[in-house]
Formats: sequence, structure tokens, C-alpha cells
Amino acid sequence: MKKVTLITGNTNKFKEMSLILIEYGIELEMLDLDLFEIQSEKIEEIALNYARNAYKEIRKPLIVEDSGLFIKALNGFPGPYSSYVNKTIGNEGILRLMYDEKERTATFKAVIVYKDDKFEETFVGEIKGEISREIRGNGWGFDPIFIPNNSKKTFGEMQSEEKNKYSHRGIATLKFAQWYSKLGNQSSL
Ligand code: IMP
Repeated sequence: MKKVTLITGNTNKFKEMSLILIEYGIELEMLDLDLFEIQSEKIEEIALNYARNAYKEIRKPLIVEDSGLFIKALNGFPGPYSSYVNKTIGNEGILRLMYDEKERTATFKAVIVYKDDKFEETFVGEIKGEISREIRGNGWGFDPIFIPNNSKKTFGEMQSEEKNKYSHRGIATLKFAQWYSKLGNQSSL
């Protein structure tokens, strides 16, 4: 079985991605490296920089994933600051900012960067949807306030398998899985 290491401390990301990768014969390992993360408005840049730094540390095939929620009425906020905003004002804070707002469109975006000694590849997944009017369900992060297009449920009301069918991370992971499973064995050592 091919192996790849996901550099993260987020077990939710690990679980969601593992479910897809295992279907492609790819075993995901998780490693939490406490590395410096650059600040940028582009999550592509953050992920690429992080992948390069992580590769210098471990020198084996790895992926990193950076993601964010971009709310149209808030001009793309919290975007690259999603993690910090989730920790500080949380879902209640976002719903307060969106109180009385009719334009509730938002996009979740995930960027995965794969790196080994030969390749440096980026995979992007995006899902449009809207911010709910109240907190619904469980899940992590912004799951309980995001309703993807073509669904009535928030991510927080879905199991991981169902969320993966819609989610930014599910889309990016699938693109990576299709590419990686075709890659020669030399990169899976
Ligand atoms: P980072 O990618 O670790 O910088 O964090 C992105 C942040 O965006 C997370 O900490 C969550 O708050 C939020 N986020 C990203 N993807 C999801 C998701 O699938 N569900 C809920 N929140 C998410």
C-alpha cells in the first residue's frame, strides 16, 4: 500500500482525508510538526511554503492541507484567517456579523500540496454554499453554520462520508488521490 504523511495537528482533517485515500490504496499517516507558518492572503502560498519547510524536516513524501471559509458579504473574511477567527469569535461571532444579512453566499476552499524529492503538486477544492441562520449539528470549525449548495443540511449535520461528497477537502483529496495512485512506486517509499 502506498503511504503518505499528512502534516497536521487536526485529527478531523486526517479522518476526512483518510476515508477517501484508503479507497485508492493510499495509507495516510499523521504527523504534527510545530513549524512556522507564513501569513498570506493566498492559502496556496501558505500551503506551498509549509510543504517546503516540512519536507526539509522529514525528507519523505508528504502532504499539507490549508483551508478557509470565504464569506461574500464580508468581502472574503475570514479566508486565510479562518483558524484564528474560529478560535476567537467562533460560529456565534460569524452569525452575529451576518445578522440581518440577506446575501449569505460563502465558499469553502482547500489547498493540498504534495511534496517529495521529485514532485511539488497543488490540488484545489472549492464548494459554494451559504451561511445558515443558526448553529445546526455538531462537526468541527465552521461545519455547523455552512450549508453546501444542493443540500439542506449543514456540514455539522452530516457524517464524514456525506460531507466528503460535497466538501472542499473531499474534492481536493480526490484530485490528489487520482494523481498519486497513478504515480510510480518510487515516490511511495
Ligand atoms: P487551517 O487550514 O488549519 O489553517 O485552518 C482552517 C480553518 O478553517 C479551520 O481551523 C476551521 O476553522 C476552518 N475550516 C476549514 N475547513 C473546514 C471544514 O471542513 N469544516 C469546518 N471548518 C473548516
